[in-house]
Amino acid sequence: MSQPSMMQEIQEAAAFIRQETNQVKPQIGLILGSGLGVLADLIEQPTVIDYSRIPHFPVSTVEGHAGELVVGSIQGKQVLMMKGRFHAYEGYGAETVSFPVRVMKELGVETLIVTNAAGGVNESFQVGDLMVISDHLNMTFRNPLIGPNDSALGVRFPDMSEAYSKRLRKLAHEVAANQDFKLQEGVYVGLLGPNYETPAEIRMFRTLGGDSVGMSTVPEVIVARHAGIEVLGFSCISNMASGILDQPLSHEEVMETTEKVKPKFLKLVLGIIEAL
Ligand code: 6GU
Repeated sequence: MSQPSMMQEIQEAAAFIRQETNQVKPQIGLILGSGLGVLADLIEQPTVIDYSRIPHFPVSTVEGHAGELVVGSIQGKQVLMMKGRFHAYEGYGAETVSFPVRVMKELGVETLIVTNAAGGVNESFQVGDLMVISDHLNMTFRNPLIGPNDSALGVRFPDMSEAYSKRLRKLAHEVAANQDFKLQEGVYVGLLGPNYETPAEIRMFRTLGGDSVGMSTVPEVIVARHAGIEVLGFSCISNMASGILDQPLSHEEVMETTEKVKPKFLKLVLGIIEAL
């Protein structure tokens, strides 16, 4: 027997989710960084599906990570939320990390909101700032689109000149202004991790035009653009990147900051869903 094609795998995963959710057609997909999974608690009439039950879905390796899809409505809009995402540093390939985005597209998602916790590279940023992503630097040097292109999924050479939607960025600034805070804007540098960068690497990224740095988001956004999904991305500046402050970086600091910023971040994302 020949191997199932990626299209077959996508369709089988989507069919399972449709069946579990009584044919709900989500318009908005969300991939939320660590700490923001609580947004799932705001979904009305949620259907929760463990990743392990979805055909061909990758399964989280990290203990304590939820690894579930939550489908339902927020402010009258059908949403599909990934609680727990996949990272390259866990050992997944770029095509595996981004497979759920393919499934979102098959289910009808037209808008993807991605969030991450990131280090501040731009020295004018402060810990706790929220940044709307204007563009990215793919410093993973991996790509989920490598291999034969299935034209049913997208074109061979996708345009990335507006990877992060101008329209949605403008909307995000308007929502933030209504909520009385200044939303930063900048370029996200995506890396493999799992170590944090050296001060020399951070200086290089700053020279190259980077404003925030993290270990996620890039593969999902590449696939979303290939699939024609409009993307809005946010970094929560959870710490300053290495070499800026005279102190070591730690995952504890990242978690502490995301916990503090959580209410503001959730309110922003909710405001945007409402305005979409
Ligand atoms: Cl400073 N670097 C990377 N790669 N990821 C991060 C981070 C820094 N801070 C939070 N996540």
